[in-house]
Amino acid sequence: MESTQTDIDAEIAAADAVALPGRIHPDRDYPPYRSTVLRHPKQSLVVVRDPEAVELSGPVFGVTDVLGHDADLTRQHRGEPLGERITVTGRVLDRDGHPIRGQLVEVWQANAAGRYAHGGDRHPAPLDPNFTGAGRCLTDDEGRYTFTTMRPGAYPWRNHRNAWRPAHIHFSLFGTAFTQRLVTQMYFPGDPLHARDPILRAVADEKARRRLIADYDHDLSVPEWSLGYRWDIVLDGPAATWIEEGR
Ligand SMILES: [Fe+2]
Repeated sequence: MESTQTDIDAEIAAADAVALPGRIHPDRDYPPYRSTVLRHPKQSLVVVRDPEAVELSGPVFGVTDVLGHDADLTRQHRGEPLGERITVTGRVLDRDGHPIRGQLVEVWQANAAGRYAHGGDRHPAPLDPNFTGAGRCLTDDEGRYTFTTMRPGAYPWRNHRNAWRPAHIHFSLFGTAFTQRLVTQMYFPGDPLHARDPILRAVADEKARRRLIADYDHDLSVPEWSLGYRWDIVLDGPAATWIEEGR
């Protein structure tokens, strides 16, 4: 029988009760997030003995490939996308607070109606002909990235009955080689769906979950133009941003 939100909430609470204190990374098999049962590795990870061989078939980019307007998701088509224009900015830092410079940061997201411009997304919310929902930039000397985009909507998924993902933006940090790529998600403050989302709740540590939620920054908001959100990404150490494993 299809699980209800009440069932999922109870499973999350049961998982929290046995989670190791301070553990940041969720279990790869996290039953409240149903598809992890089928997708998690059942054998131990394999060490890549020859990372350079992987590089030969992996994607490549250079500084000349990433253009300034790639970071403005509102300017990729002839017209303005619908929704709430936002600026999302922050710094990519190492465990000691040093900036990670020249880092390729990629984002992808749903439009303001909660619909991805992707053939796999068929739920009845409108596509926006002026919004694709993908962008990229390189961090500057302070480790800073900045995107102009539209605030994404929440969207339904079929994890359980009446399952909705809180609004989020997917982030990828490329590293210096394809084998170092890290992927995570940024959330928006004050969303009532946070507590009900088995993907966010898979991070059992409350402080670690908090680090996935951006801060609203009124000083970053631009009069008559956009709202500002600030989100720093810490790559390792005790204040690390949770990163999806197994990518
Ligand atoms: Fe998503």
